[in-house]
Parts: sequence; C-alpha cells; structure tokens
Amino acid sequence: MEKTKIYGHRGSMGDFPENTLLSFQQAIEQGVEGLELDVHMTKDLEIVVIHDEMLDRTTDGTGYVKDLSLDDIKGFSAGVKFSHFRNYEESLWRLESVPTLKEVLELIWPYDIELNIELKTNIIPYEGIEEKVLSLVKKYGNDRKVIYSSFHLPTLIRIKRIDSSANIAWLLDQQITLAQDYIHSLELEGLHLSKDIVLMDNCNLKEISKNIRVWTVNDSKEINQLLDFGVNAIMTNFPEKALLIRNERK
Ligand code: G3P
Ligand code: CA
Repeated sequence: MEKTKIYGHRGSMGDFPENTLLSFQQAIEQGVEGLELDVHMTKDLEIVVIHDEMLDRTTDGTGYVKDLSLDDIKGFSAGVKFSHFRNYEESLWRLESVPTLKEVLELIWPYDIELNIELKTNIIPYEGIEEKVLSLVKKYGNDRKVIYSSFHLPTLIRIKRIDSSANIAWLLDQQITLAQDYIHSLELEGLHLSKDIVLMDNCNLKEISKNIRVWTVNDSKEINQLLDFGVNAIMTNFPEKALLIRNERK
C-alpha cells in the first residue's frame, strides 16, 4: 500500500509564520512530501502567497491584497504578528515578507516535493489569476507534481481549459454524495476534504481514498485514523509531529 504523504499546511504554520519562506523551509527540513499554500493577486497582477484577502491578520499592514501593489505589500512584515509563538525571533521573523509564488517556487526548486496551490477565488474573483499561476509553475515549477485546488469550482474548470494535463482538486467542507462521479466527470485529480467529512465517512470514500487529501489534521488520534483510512495525503500545521507518528507505525 502506498504510504500517506504528509503536507505542511501553509508551511509549518503551527510553529512558524504561515505562508512565509521561513515556514516553508522549516516544513521541508522536517521532511514533508508536500506543501500547501494559498494565493491571491495584487493590484499590479502579481501572485502572492497569503491566506486572507486582507493583510491585517497576518502582517503589520492593512487593506485588501487586490488594492495594493506588490511593492506596497513587500513593505510589511509577515512575521511580527506571530510574536506569541515559542520559536519567535524578532530580528529574523521581522524580515519575513509576504512571498510571491515565484519566490516560493524558487525556494523549493531543489527539493523533490509536491505542491498544492490553493487559489483563493471564492470571495474575490481575481480575473486572469489561473493563467498567471499556471505560467509561473511552468517556468519555475521544476516539473514537480503540482495540484491546483479551490473551493471555487469555476477556477478549476478554467485551469483545466488552459492546461488539460493540470491536476485539479476540489476543496470541500461539506459532504457530497457519489464523490466518484465528480472525480470522473470533472476530471478531478483529487478531492481535498475537511477532516470531519472523512472521519464520518458515510459517503463511501474508502474506494477513492487514493484521490483524497485531508485538511487540517493536527490531533494524533485523527492522524492515526486517517493513516488507517489510507488517504493520499494529510495536511497538517505540525508536519514534524505527523511525520513522527507515520514513520513510527509498523
Ligand atoms: O487546502 C486546505 C485548507 O487549507 C483549506 O482551508 O482556510 O486553511 O485555506 P484554509
Ligand atoms: Ca489553504
């Protein structure tokens, strides 16, 4: 049986500032097989890696990504809001900025890991974001396996129209029936399901376990349950812990 992969969610966000180069580097050093990150588009059409539509929660800046230029955004720290973390180092974390997708692709270039790019298009549509993301991956992706995911199905359909070989995965936080039909008819490489859907498993997910990645799983018991289930990948804020659990199982 193929082993369940461990993906670092926004890098290693339980211990490091989410969606920063520092967080991704740490997850890689911990040994992840994949990384998950979120993208939005700036006023000057640059693709940046940040979870929210606005800067306010994760940086010392304010405002919507869509209303700011990359230069504006680069002026803020993406580390200082996390001063309550036990690993916090003021001089180092202050220097973390919101990375561009290109910067993350360059950082991970040498590593043999998968990448899940979540396009955050379910609130702000960001016209043209799909082309931009695909083109960056083509240039800087180093032929790695990239999975494009979104809660917003039209984004995934647009990606597939631009590149029919792209791996697309639909993000869901509620149950669906006949999951296999969605996979076949929409040509989904995967379903990215919230852990509760899989742990409840009353929709025959076992037969498609290899197409399922699960988010966000931090609890040891749940990690073990999902390893038993045989999902393709577990996304976690604590990749070091999940890797330890998985690697110690017989
Ligand atoms: O991609 C899985 C998960 O990251 C989706 O939720 O809010 O953490 O982006 P969120
Ligand atoms: Ca995400």
